[in-house]
Amino acid sequence: MQLVAVPSTAEEETQKTRFLRACMRQPVDATPVWFMRQAGRYMAEYRQVREKHSLLEICRTPELAAEVTMQPIRALHVDAAILFADILLPLIPLGLELSFSEGVGPVISTPIRTMEDVRKLRLIDVEADLAYVMQAIRMLRGELQVPLIGFCGAPFTVAAYAIEGGASRGFLRTKSMMYSAPDAFHALLDRLSDVLADYLVAQIRAGVQAVQIFDSWVGELQPIDYATFIQPYSHKVLARAQAAGVPVIHFGTNTTHLLTLMKQAGGTVMGFDWRVPLNDGWRILGEDVAVQGNLDPAALFAPMPELKRRAELVLRRAAGRPGHIFNLGHGILPNTPVDHVRAVVDFVHEYSAAHHS
Ligand code: CP3
Repeated sequence: MQLVAVPSTAEEETQKTRFLRACMRQPVDATPVWFMRQAGRYMAEYRQVREKHSLLEICRTPELAAEVTMQPIRALHVDAAILFADILLPLIPLGLELSFSEGVGPVISTPIRTMEDVRKLRLIDVEADLAYVMQAIRMLRGELQVPLIGFCGAPFTVAAYAIEGGASRGFLRTKSMMYSAPDAFHALLDRLSDVLADYLVAQIRAGVQAVQIFDSWVGELQPIDYATFIQPYSHKVLARAQAAGVPVIHFGTNTTHLLTLMKQAGGTVMGFDWRVPLNDGWRILGEDVAVQGNLDPAALFAPMPELKRRAELVLRRAAGRPGHIFNLGHGILPNTPVDHVRAVVDFVHEYSAAHHS
């Protein structure tokens, strides 16, 4: 940990503002880049911490969460940090039993299936019940040179975990509740959207300079169901975060058919997965919004020339228009070679500085 403030160079000064400027569609010296899941098991430093502590212990110990957040900042030259936490943490104070099991992922042993279950959710005060998250944010702001991104899951994605009790393929239980018990489904999303909006506002008060909402599984839905069951609740979370005065990134996967509705729900920046060519996605949304994406995370396993070719294709599709933040189309995968991740960051900076400024 760095204790003494070192005077920063001009290059560091521009790096500090690149990400936030791009969120506002202002011109930048080079395309900013960060990665979803940039802290994690693909890094030896992370695995070392994980040998001694569970994922939940890391999340609940501000010193450890801050340390793990800093690891990719030290190892890569990324333009933003993302707070180390998990989208499912707010379920704990709501009264659900959450654990993470090796190789399986999150497990919720007390899933929500009925209106009765929704009514039993505890009333919570996010500032107090998730105080460890706010504490990690305050620690990080004292240490970081680049902007800090906070996040939460979108109401649908968090609800899907709460209803299924963990990861799922077809989301049959979630859709069954939506189609067979719509009042209970709406009540759950309404409750979660209030909690998630409060949670983002609390993170912003604690010091995060941008937030992202992850709607990782919403692509499972057809547009009419998104409009009826999801959009009002995502809108509530996005609007409250935007009103708190920071850029808001709205991300989902498999969402090409939902992009227009998702944009209507809100977001300063729209995130794409890798399935949609970035220029096509941007055309669907219109140029009055910034975009983030969208290299296939699997491309990081390719030989360097192929990897660079694919990163260049993303940059060529963005064509130097103000308002592009380079990222993957989803999170970094386990076993990703760290040197390839670092090489992409440098390539994005060098290529965009040379071609688009
Ligand atoms: O991006 C970052 O570096 C910040 C940390 C972060 C984590 N989870 C830590 C974590 C973020 C942004 C998340 C978000 C998250 N969590 C999402 C949305 C993003 C996405 O990938 O779609 C979702 C769906 C979850 C729920 C979750 N948490 C799952 C499905 C899993 C298990 C799958 C896996 O990758 O192992 C987790 C566990 C989890 N959360 C890990 C990390 C680094 C796994 C590593 C570990 O066990 O140490």
